[in-house]
Amino acid sequence: MAQLPKGEPAPSDGRITKLFDSAQHSFHAYVHIPYCLTRCGYCDFNTYTASELANHRRDEYFEYVLKEISFSREVLAASEVIARPISTVFFGGGTPTLLAADDLIQILQGLRSTFGISPEAEITTEANPDSVDESYLEKLFEAGFNRISFGMQSAVPEVLKVLERTHNPENVEKNVAIAKRIGFQTSVDLIYGTPGESLADWKKSLQVATSLETDHISAYSLIVEPGTKLNRQIESGQISPPDEDLHAQMYEMVEQVLVEAGFRNYEVSNWARGVDSRSKHNMAYWQSQDWWGYGPGAHSHIAGNRFWNVKHPAAYAERISQAISPALERELVDSDNRVVEKVMLELRLVDGVDVQWLRSQGLAGPKIVAELIADELIEGASAISGRMTLTPKGRLLADAVIRKVLEF
Ligand SMILES: C[S@@+](CC[C@H](N)C(=O)[O-])C[C@H]1O[C@@H](n2cnc3c(N)ncnc32)[C@H](O)[C@@H]1O
Ligand code: SF4
Repeated sequence: MAQLPKGEPAPSDGRITKLFDSAQHSFHAYVHIPYCLTRCGYCDFNTYTASELANHRRDEYFEYVLKEISFSREVLAASEVIARPISTVFFGGGTPTLLAADDLIQILQGLRSTFGISPEAEITTEANPDSVDESYLEKLFEAGFNRISFGMQSAVPEVLKVLERTHNPENVEKNVAIAKRIGFQTSVDLIYGTPGESLADWKKSLQVATSLETDHISAYSLIVEPGTKLNRQIESGQISPPDEDLHAQMYEMVEQVLVEAGFRNYEVSNWARGVDSRSKHNMAYWQSQDWWGYGPGAHSHIAGNRFWNVKHPAAYAERISQAISPALERELVDSDNRVVEKVMLELRLVDGVDVQWLRSQGLAGPKIVAELIADELIEGASAISGRMTLTPKGRLLADAVIRKVLEF
């Protein structure tokens, strides 16, 4: 499983060192649900199957999160961080829909009664296509959830098998249709570049995904994470490693098929039907707003502080029970690091970064801009009119462009 980053120890009372006034930033909530029925071979997210939980009880989990919500309210007040209603809520995992609908609803009500939630807030849960049905989704909708993101990954059974996905592909179609009928905004996650996946397989997945007529699609290039079963299978030669040239062709294909189907790219790996269909929650991350991440391993970002909770659900429950902050470590993001983060995050967005602002930070001089245009990595016309935005080729090589702009 992925390691938490290194920081300094977080204060046990959770206190935030306010680096700037948050009045200009919106406030968001992420709720981590750290459970899965089985672990997919490629996944290193902070999630646990029943056998990895020892005595920790899934059905009591919502009570700990409710306590962390009250705790966060006290910490923000004590740290003099301005109180704001929540603009978006995102339940992610793991598999949030492994909890009873009532558990998720109680957490949402806890956020509402503690902070208030804006009337137009986007309230999303991730869902495994096998772990929801009509009555489950109806309950969530009645309680205020309005967006569901399904983990589809692929429509091709052989590809799903290599990924060790256990869901029945027919349930994606069925449950997206139910969710849409109920009134949810919908999204599906896809993965491309799975060992053995051909361009034809990927085209099939894209065709099935677009036929679902969701509002949004995320498509991620498969990352072989250290410590995963997939990594071991590749290292032992049991499975061939992903092919980078094929990844590039697959990225070109996703852009082409999704644009033809009426989607527009707005972040390197994300496409939406219109501006209103973009993930407002993810936009908040990319624009460095304030958010509190609840649950084990969850990361928060408030007033220039980044802090992250202990990873194991049992350790998290223990700390919450003892009224100790679940935050393990923190990092204070100084103004230089904020500039780096802004470039790394915002250059990946369709509107890119203001060229004048880059210059004011001593970055992206005329020679670098000219080279990026000549290499067809940024849009020339856009750069001349003041925004640095990636071309489709630049999106594929986004990390290299960012390194060049930051002169790493
Ligand atoms: C953590 S999962 C949560 C959603 C839900 N558990 C599911 O898988 O259906 C969020 C998304 O991250 C993506 N993901 C996870 N591991 C990945 C990897 N190693 N490479 C690329 N994408 C990955 C998948 O598309 C997945 O749907
Ligand atoms: S269901 Fe999602 S979170 Fe769980 S192991 Fe699979 S990819 Fe990871």
